[in-house]
Amino acid sequence: MTQPSTIAILSGVGFDVRSVRDDFPALHQEVHGKPLVYLDSAATTLKPQTVIDTVSDVYARDCSNIHRAVHLLSQRATARYEDAREKVRSFLNAKSSIEVIFTRGTTESINLVAQSWARTFLQEGDEVLVTELEHHSNIVPWQIVCQQVGAELIIVPMTDRGEILREAFEERLSSRTRLVAMAHVSNALGTVLPVEELIELAHEKGAVVLLDGAQAVSHISVDVQALDCDFYAFSGHKLYGPTGVGVLYGRERLLEEMPPYQGGGDMIRSVTFAETIYNDLPYKFEAGTPNIAGVIGLGAAIDYFTSLDLDAVHAHESAVLRYTTKALESVSGLRLIGTAPGKVAAASFLMDPVHPHDIGTIVDSEGVAIRTGHHCAQPVMEHFGIAATARASLGMYNTTEDIDALVRALHKVQELFG
Ligand code: ALA
Repeated sequence: MTQPSTIAILSGVGFDVRSVRDDFPALHQEVHGKPLVYLDSAATTLKPQTVIDTVSDVYARDCSNIHRAVHLLSQRATARYEDAREKVRSFLNAKSSIEVIFTRGTTESINLVAQSWARTFLQEGDEVLVTELEHHSNIVPWQIVCQQVGAELIIVPMTDRGEILREAFEERLSSRTRLVAMAHVSNALGTVLPVEELIELAHEKGAVVLLDGAQAVSHISVDVQALDCDFYAFSGHKLYGPTGVGVLYGRERLLEEMPPYQGGGDMIRSVTFAETIYNDLPYKFEAGTPNIAGVIGLGAAIDYFTSLDLDAVHAHESAVLRYTTKALESVSGLRLIGTAPGKVAAASFLMDPVHPHDIGTIVDSEGVAIRTGHHCAQPVMEHFGIAATARASLGMYNTTEDIDALVRALHKVQELFG
C-alpha cells in the first residue's frame, strides 16, 4: 500500500505534524545511510528539544539538591521540582498535588503499591486480579507480594483478538478480590481496556484498583477523578520526557494509611534511635535524592504535550494507526497479532517463517526502527503460541510516509526470505 501521501489529510485541523517533527532532533538523522523512521515509541518516545534543553539547563544553572538548603540554587531547583508536581497533578486531574509521587518509572510505582499497600493490607486467602495481557511489571510485583502474604493471583483471560471482556472480568472477580491491577493500554497489542466499567465492577466488590498507564498517557486523555481509579502509574519517558522518572498517583486516603516503601533522607520528619516520624505526603514516599532534572524535564514534556491540541493529536495517531493496519494487511504472509477494536498506537505482527528478530534487523538496515521480542509480556506470547512478534508503535510525530517506508522494508524481508 504505497498510495500518495495522506500526511496533509491526516494532519487535519489543529495538528501540524511537520512542525511537531521539527521539534524532535532525533528524527532528523540517518541510520545505515537512510533517513530514520522511528516506530518504537511504545519502548520509549523521542524527546522534543525543549525537554533536552530543560534537563541541560537544570544541570547548567540550577544544579542543586532540593528541600535541603536555603541557598538560591536549591530554592530554584526545589521550586522547579514542585512546579513539575503541580503540572502532573493538572495533567492527571488529581485532586491534590500530594497525591503525586515521583518514582523511577511505572515499574517502581507498581512495586511501591505492591510492597507498601498490598504487603500491609493483604492476607492469606485474599486475591489479586490481573489480566492476561499485562506487562511483566504488572505481574511479577504481585507474584512477589502474593507469595509474601499468602494471597492468590487470579488471571482474567483475554480473547484471541487481545481483548479483556467484562464477562471474563466479572467471572474472576469475587468478594475475596482485594486489588485489581490492570493495564490501561496493552504494550504488546495496543488494546485499550474498558477500564471505566471494570473499575466500577471492582469497586462494587470493595477492591482497590491500580491502572498501569505507561502506554496510555501519550495516547488517551487521563482523568484520575473521572476514572475513579485508586492508583495510576506511568513513566516520563513514554510521554516525551526523560528516562528514569515516573509517577504514582494515589488516592490521598490510601497513601495516608500506607507505610513508606523505602527509608532514607527527606521521607522523615524526625529520626532518633528510639523512633522515626515519617514526613507528610508526598515526601513520605520519596526517600533519597530524587531524579531532580528528570522530574523537571517531565514537567517540560507535559508543558510541551499539553500545549498541543490533544484531541487533534489523538485523531492524528488514530488515522496513522488505521493506515498502518491496512498497509500491513496488504503485505502477503503477514499476520497481525492483536486485533481488538479501538486499539491505539501499536501493531504487532508476524511474517512466518521469518523470525521477528530477522524482520527487525532487516528493516533496521533500511532505517526503520521497530521492536521485536516478547515485549516483556510473555503470557501474551503464550496465549498466541508464539515466542515473539515484530511491533511497530507510534508517536504523535509519525506519518503515513513512515508506514510506507516500513512496508517497503518488509518487502525487502520477503525478497530476502523468498
Ligand atoms: N515496556 C516497553 C515496551 O513495550 C519497554 O517496549
